[in-house]
Amino acid sequence: MRPYELIKAKRDGQKLQGPDIAAFIDGYTKGSVPDYQMSAMLMAVFFKGLDDAELGAWAKAMLFSGEVLDLSDTPGVKVDKHSTGGVGDKVSLSLAPLAAACGVPVPMISGRGLGHTGGTLDKLESIPGFKVDLPVSEYRRLVREVGACLIGQTATLAPADKKLYALRDVTATVDCIPLIASSIMSKKLAEGIDALVLDVKVGSGAFMKEVEDARTLARTMISIGREMGKKVVALLTDMEQPLGRTVGNALEVIEAVEMLRGNAPADYTEVTLALTAEMLVLAGRAKDAKEARHALFAAIKDGSAEKKLHELVKAQGGDPSAIADLTKLPRAKHTAVVAVSTSGFVQGIDSEAVGLAAMALGAGRERTDSVIDPAVGFVLEKKVGDAVAPGEPLVTVHYNDAAKLDAVKARVAAAYRIGAERPAPRPLVLERLE
Ligand code: URA
Repeated sequence: MRPYELIKAKRDGQKLQGPDIAAFIDGYTKGSVPDYQMSAMLMAVFFKGLDDAELGAWAKAMLFSGEVLDLSDTPGVKVDKHSTGGVGDKVSLSLAPLAAACGVPVPMISGRGLGHTGGTLDKLESIPGFKVDLPVSEYRRLVREVGACLIGQTATLAPADKKLYALRDVTATVDCIPLIASSIMSKKLAEGIDALVLDVKVGSGAFMKEVEDARTLARTMISIGREMGKKVVALLTDMEQPLGRTVGNALEVIEAVEMLRGNAPADYTEVTLALTAEMLVLAGRAKDAKEARHALFAAIKDGSAEKKLHELVKAQGGDPSAIADLTKLPRAKHTAVVAVSTSGFVQGIDSEAVGLAAMALGAGRERTDSVIDPAVGFVLEKKVGDAVAPGEPLVTVHYNDAAKLDAVKARVAAAYRIGAERPAPRPLVLERLE
C-alpha cells in the first residue's frame, strides 16, 4: 500500500499489516516518506491506537532501523533496567554496580535529563573524567570485562526513534502509550540485552500520573519484549515525591555511593534493591527475590558493590578516587537553607515542581543544548510523613549563582504541602507485572 492509503486505513480504524508498517517506517527513516505523512500517521495512531500485532511490527521496524548489538561473546544473561524517568532517580548509578558485583552483565544505554527529570548520563559526568560517549567496541568490551557499561545513545541504534521522537515532540504525539512503548523498547532491545526490568514511575513527578496509565504502558512494553523473545518484568514505583533526599547531579552521585555503603535513605534503597533483585532472578543468579536480596546485601556489606563502581568509573575514564573520597566531586560554592514556616506534617512534595526548581538552578536542561552545572541542587531535609516545626531546615539549596537563589527558594518551598495530619504511608512498589 502507498503511504496515503496506510494513513487513511489507520485513520479509519483499520488494522495495518506488518510488512506495510515495516515499509512505512523504513521509508521514513530513509527519507522517502516525508515528515508530513509521518505526522498524519502519528496522529492517526494517537487516536486509533495499535493492536498487539501492529505494535509488535511497529517496534520491530524501529528496532531494525539500525544496528542491533550482539553481546553473545559475553557469557551470562545480560539484563538492563529502564526507568520512565523521575526526580531524584539515581537508581541506575547504584543498581548497575550492584547487579554486576552479583554476576549479572549490565549493558546500559542511558539518557540525559530534559525538563524536570534528571538523566543518568549527566549524573555520571559529574564524576571527573567520566566518559559516556565510548565507541560500541569499547562498550562491548567493558560489559564483558567489567560487567557493566553505561553510555549514551549512539547514532546507529534505533535511528528511526531519533527522527520520530523529534517529530512527535512538535506534533503533540509524545503522550501516546503505543508510541512511548515502541520508542523505549526499540532502543533497549538494540543494546544487546537478553532480559529487561522496567521501572515505570507513577505520580506527580512522572510521565504517567495515574496507576492505570502506568499499568497499560508497562503491559505494552512487556508485550513488545515478549514478541521479541525477551523476558521483561515491570515494577510500578511511586513518584509522588522525589526519590531519596538529593536532587542534582553530583549530589545524587554522593547518595548513590552512600547506598552502596548501606547508608542511603530507605525509599531509594528499597526501590534499588527491588529492581536489582528482579535482575538477579531474570539472570538466573538467584531463585527468587528473597535469595537475590541476600546476595545484594552481601555485596553491600563486603564492599564488592562499591568496588565494582570504582572499577566501572576507572574503565570509563573517570577518577575512582572521587568515589572513595566524595569531597572530590564538584561542590557548589554556597549553600542556603529553606526553613519550615508552619508546624505539622509534610503531606506531599510536588516532584515536578522540585525538578523544575532544580532545572532553574542549573542542575537540569531547559533545551537539549543547555549547559548544566553538576554541583548545584537540593538536599531535601524533610520528606513526606516527617513532622515539621517552624524554623527547622526543610531544604538545603546548593548553588553557585546568587541571582537565582531567591526565586528557587520560593519555588522549592511552594512544592511542599504541609498539613495537620500525618499522611498514611504509601507503598514504594505499587505493582509487579510480567
Ligand atoms: N522516553 C522515550 O525514550 N520515548 C518516549 O516516547 C517517551 C519517553
